Amino acid sequence: MATHVSRRQLLRIGGGVVVAGAAAGLGLLTARGSQATNQLAALVPSELPLPARFAVPLPRPAQRSGGEISLVQRYAEQEILPGRRTRVTGYDGMFPGPTIRARRGAPVRVRVQNDLDIGTVMHLHGGRMAPEHDGYPTDVLLPHSGRVRASLMPGNTTIGARSYVYPMDQRAATLWYHDHAMDFTGPNVYAGLAGFCILTDAEEEALGLPSGQRDVELMLADRSFTSDAQFKYPALAPDQSVPGVEPLYLAGVLGDVMLVNGAPWPVHEVSRNLHRLRWLNGSNARNYRLELAPGGTFIQIGSDGGLLEKPATRNSIVLSPGERMDTVVDFSQYPVGALVTVRNTLGAGPMDAVMQFRVVRDAHEDARVPDTLSEIQWLRREDAVRTRDFIFALQFGGGHGHGAGQARGGGFIPHQWTINGRPFDTETDWATPKYGDVEIWRFSAVAAHPVHVHLAHMQVLSRSSGPPRPSDAGLKDTVDLGPMESCEVIARFDGFRGRYVMHCHNLEHEDMAMMANFTVV
Ligand code: C2O
Ligand code: CU
Repeated sequence: MATHVSRRQLLRIGGGVVVAGAAAGLGLLTARGSQATNQLAALVPSELPLPARFAVPLPRPAQRSGGEISLVQRYAEQEILPGRRTRVTGYDGMFPGPTIRARRGAPVRVRVQNDLDIGTVMHLHGGRMAPEHDGYPTDVLLPHSGRVRASLMPGNTTIGARSYVYPMDQRAATLWYHDHAMDFTGPNVYAGLAGFCILTDAEEEALGLPSGQRDVELMLADRSFTSDAQFKYPALAPDQSVPGVEPLYLAGVLGDVMLVNGAPWPVHEVSRNLHRLRWLNGSNARNYRLELAPGGTFIQIGSDGGLLEKPATRNSIVLSPGERMDTVVDFSQYPVGALVTVRNTLGAGPMDAVMQFRVVRDAHEDARVPDTLSEIQWLRREDAVRTRDFIFALQFGGGHGHGAGQARGGGFIPHQWTINGRPFDTETDWATPKYGDVEIWRFSAVAAHPVHVHLAHMQVLSRSSGPPRPSDAGLKDTVDLGPMESCEVIARFDGFRGRYVMHCHNLEHEDMAMMANFTVV
């Protein structure tokens, strides 16, 4: 197929939907996978010796606040592996980007300047904002020069710089921002375009939770490295002339070096008192089940959409890509001198741990975790005016799709990830909820998919496998859909009218078309 044919035309040509075929294919893939919860994604082996674990200190991202924040997307070198320089693509040249600190009711205008040679799209994940500020995949910010490595999908483009306006009219929560460019979110986030946005409010501030140096945001991201210490992403075309990854990685890209805030398996010194640890799964495709060794518990206080009503004691914390978990750990449960390893019991080999805490001193306690944290207005099943089904499936077709097999590239891999049998296209609405309506959305899938919905904050009603899981507690913007599972969520569609997306947050699936538009009308 000639390369001048646009994708939109290609999408119309399409390949046949073969749901049964997809199921059979995934059956084969599942047999290869190791865990029930996971992981068809494949590991990219690093080409250099892995760094020692628990040797480098945990970095704290830079902090920014105020009504006007300016960020420059640029290339920079960062010491990630000890003694080596890695080129990152970062907001202000940093990975993670600066943490944006915001307060409920105080809008933030973020001016983003693009000094790269790729088009970018900034999305505030978990934020509620007008559609033109939400980072729609084709609302691209082009570099100053206007020149990019390869041609992009046409959309509402801006050249040089633009502002994103965030009303911050929502509950206190741990949000994050990251790139959302059509077809290239996976490589762009992998290269470093991600940071936190932490929103607080008066209700939260009155609780007496640990704050300041004892309120720590932790971005989990696995990466692999080339022999010259560069990020190694198995893109079909590093110049972005073609989207997609090498065939082995169509189910997701896993790294073999665990980074927390951009440092490999870091260690963090703590005093024997309460610490607030805000976990973010910023990985492209890796799932985590965090546990403390040798023993100990987390107190979960919040999830994607802010504080729970009451704290919940957890032995483990499960996170699929995009999810956040707000926890407090009481380090007085350990003696001075203790080394507390945060294990990932879904990971193998060196990836069986993410970081370590070193308990270095006794301390007086001035923080607390009250029995009541917040109020949540629960929606009831009867509030819903309709139920919609969304089926997440791998589609094997004629190879004319959106993903790695399409004509923009040379490779012929007849597959794409679809929602309700369709690969993403900008012209179709998968759903048109009426403004203010409460709807039940039922997600189902053969393979695991972290399902992320923009704008709406969801409450999990049920799982096919039983009641909601502990990781479903509170308000969610991303739900961890397991293999052969369905999950019912309920949400009210309000705040703004217009077009948003929902998609799989496994970034390789997202880039290979597992995305859908919905328009609030
Ligand atoms: Cu975190 Cu639509 O993405
Ligand atoms: Cu997926």
